[in-house]
Amino acid sequence: MCGIVGYIGKRDVAPLLLEGLQRLEYRGYDSAGIVVTSPKAAGLKMVKAKGRVRDLEARVPKRFAGTTGIAHTRWATHGAPSDVNAHPHLDAEGRVAVVHNGIIDNASELRAKLTADGVEFLSETDTEVLVHLISRSQAETLEEKVREALRVVEGTYGIAVMHADFSDRIVVARNGSPVVLGIGEKEMFVASDVAALVSHTRQIVTLDDGEMATLKADDFRTYTTEGSRTTATPTTVEWEAESYDMGGHDTYMHKEISEQAEAVDRVLRGRIDDRFSTVHLGGLNLDPREARGIRRVKILGCGTSYHAGMIGAGLIESLARIPADAEPASEFRYRNPVVDPDTLYLAVSQSGETYDVLAAVQELKRKGARVLGVVNVVGSAIAREADGGVYVHAGPEVCVVSTKCFTNTVVAFALLALHLGRIRDLSVADGKRLIEGLRRLPEQIDEILKLEPQIKQLADEYADAKSMMFIGRVRGYPVALEASLKLKEISYIHAEAYPASELKHGPLALIEPAMPTVAIVPDDDLLEKNRAALEEIKARSGKILAVAHQEQEKADHTIVVPKNEDELDPILMGIPLQLFAYHTALALGRDIDKPRNLAKSVTVE
Ligand code: F6R
Repeated sequence: MCGIVGYIGKRDVAPLLLEGLQRLEYRGYDSAGIVVTSPKAAGLKMVKAKGRVRDLEARVPKRFAGTTGIAHTRWATHGAPSDVNAHPHLDAEGRVAVVHNGIIDNASELRAKLTADGVEFLSETDTEVLVHLISRSQAETLEEKVREALRVVEGTYGIAVMHADFSDRIVVARNGSPVVLGIGEKEMFVASDVAALVSHTRQIVTLDDGEMATLKADDFRTYTTEGSRTTATPTTVEWEAESYDMGGHDTYMHKEISEQAEAVDRVLRGRIDDRFSTVHLGGLNLDPREARGIRRVKILGCGTSYHAGMIGAGLIESLARIPADAEPASEFRYRNPVVDPDTLYLAVSQSGETYDVLAAVQELKRKGARVLGVVNVVGSAIAREADGGVYVHAGPEVCVVSTKCFTNTVVAFALLALHLGRIRDLSVADGKRLIEGLRRLPEQIDEILKLEPQIKQLADEYADAKSMMFIGRVRGYPVALEASLKLKEISYIHAEAYPASELKHGPLALIEPAMPTVAIVPDDDLLEKNRAALEEIKARSGKILAVAHQEQEKADHTIVVPKNEDELDPILMGIPLQLFAYHTALALGRDIDKPRNLAKSVTVE
């Protein structure tokens, strides 16, 4: 949430920063701004604009030269989207500039104190307090000024600071919001995500919470907020710059849906052991004896990752016979949960930065729990905080709504469940059966993607619905939840998801011709029960779209998907509904990659 990018070197900085902002726009897109300077310049030059990065670009004058700069794309927390609330924020003399990602919790209190001291605030943002604190500091160095300011703020931040009196450097700091340094040849970069860096350098350093850095054109150093030096060894980014491009698709969402066969192939690669019908998960950090001692599994995630976790819990329970459940991390951490030493905690996150998940992990670790991560972004905060885990290997996901990462996360859970199952009581025959099922997935995903013309036609037909019901049973219920979330996020059609078994207990009252139902109807032991639910809906004149393994007589339309093993069916049944949400949103003319009010990587509470 909110994207920061900065550069110091010899190149013309504005085009570099604007390109970086474009790449970070998924983190927030309600306003943007840029500030630049150069060693010979007298001060800082700034442009800001409400709206998208392209609106900012239109405002940047032709002559906006500089070789050092910081920029920001915003997702509003304090203060509505506007030119003044956009970052960077400057002090009254225009000599200090700050861009900030995160929330300063004690901003009101600090604001009151500064106002009493005669400081005039221009914006409604929490960030502006930081600017004035830095500007008023009497410390000699920029590093010490920033440190002094950070000592009095409470909250989360990833910040980049420029000062006209110290134009040879950018000072950055991290506490709870990501900050990544990009190491170039006589030039340095900083950003909230490697997406903004990879077209310039693949050598990166990820700051830890409580860490700061000074960037100069030919040098950088890292240290704690207390001032002690830290060692920073650059690592190489896994992904090429092209992985972040649209690759000929009209939207990132379409690109990412289309990439799922190869993404699933990647999460399986090198992990299957046919000799023992099991899987190897190198980074798990859990020996067989410990695995046998697990009494419960608790999975924590938010949004789509939580839904993937629900399917994961079902897989672990059925394959490893360990009681397992999933809970939104945001709820878990506020209910003072009983932390049990025999429970294995799994934190699920695409970005690896979601604050609610990270905070839950930190709380669990404080209480002595063992926490493993199921994470996509390598080296992200949650991956580093966890005691080990499974990388999801979906590749960069740029669209705000998650698709390929959902699918890969569920496959990663299937691998984990199989691994735990084979250590415990899952037979060789069942291990072999599931491995064969996993291997069939990429080809079956390609078959589903070929249904796109049919799904588009259905989406066009259902797009005028004001509201839709999604139902599924047991394994199908999280699929229904995820499909309804996808639809509401990008089409803005109201959607509800219920276990099909719960219809009679209330939601059936909503069924009428204008309220279509999307039903998940796998060919498994619950097929007849699911069909009974379709009968009940039909009896109330409800329109039905089924996702099933065979045509459903009671449904108005059926999307027929290939059958896999019962346990693995949820992985496939969600994919046509990603396309359904996509084409519904397209029919309604929505901004698919940047849905209103949302942003990716929710690094604030
Ligand atoms: C929905 C979506 C969000 C995220 C959620 C958690 O399409 O993308 O619901 O799943 O914000 O994000 P991560 O997985 O990065 O922790």
